[in-house]
Amino acid sequence: MTDAVCFWAVIPAAGTGTRMQTDLPKQYLSINGRRVIEYSLDAFCTHPLIAGVIVALAAGDKLWEGLTLAKHPKIKTTPGGKERCHSVLNCLHALSSMAGAEDWVLVHDAARPCINREDIDRMIATLRDHPVGGLLALPVRDTMKRADTGQDSGQHVSETVNRQGLWHALTPQMFRLGRLTLALEQAIRQGELVTDESQALELAGFKPRLVEGRAENIKITRPSDLKLAELYLA
Ligand code: CTP
Ligand code: MG
Repeated sequence: MTDAVCFWAVIPAAGTGTRMQTDLPKQYLSINGRRVIEYSLDAFCTHPLIAGVIVALAAGDKLWEGLTLAKHPKIKTTPGGKERCHSVLNCLHALSSMAGAEDWVLVHDAARPCINREDIDRMIATLRDHPVGGLLALPVRDTMKRADTGQDSGQHVSETVNRQGLWHALTPQMFRLGRLTLALEQAIRQGELVTDESQALELAGFKPRLVEGRAENIKITRPSDLKLAELYLA
């Protein structure tokens, strides 16, 4: 039956980008003449293995309709939620009417425009026969410090954290629709507003696979990230 399994993409794009401090939400900022979200979506829409793409949009989003991609036959939209995990879960619920529980879902932040075909291919090739699924990630390079939580609001070092075995979690993160939906629902019910899909699976007792990604696959988070993405996408 495995030949009937499909691959889908879920793109949370309902955030307001408070750390970015711009008027426009960061997914709508322009890089070399195209918006951030257009780059992020393009990699999935043009991928022959991706059957469809569900995008979570903020209530009152007035910019989406103006995008050329808004009418792409592979794309559907759904309202976002309060936190990223709620937005992703809304997409999964929307997907459940067209996808099977065993289908794979690749969840990718709208704010990561440097994703490319090679990332998606490597991820699918590594994980399609894996029992759980996994995520793109990068081994930590720098020496890691934990800040002291004392009176000076975390401005002094309390200890050095051993970086051995530490990874930065990136996206896409790829899991089966049924299991990911249950894991996110359960996490939210327990009051755990997980910041990625892997964490929901971890809480449910699974061990997602780490797939080494590229350092260029940054998430636009702070103002200086835009320049960096511009460079990578040039
Ligand atoms: N996101 C979402 N729904 C939310 C919050 C975030 O769909 N309620 C999306 C963002 O649009 C982004 C991705 O999740 O593509 C990663 O989130 P993050 O980088 O935290 O974006 P923002 O929440 O928009 O930024 P900030 O945390 O600085 O406000
Ligand atoms: Mg956020």
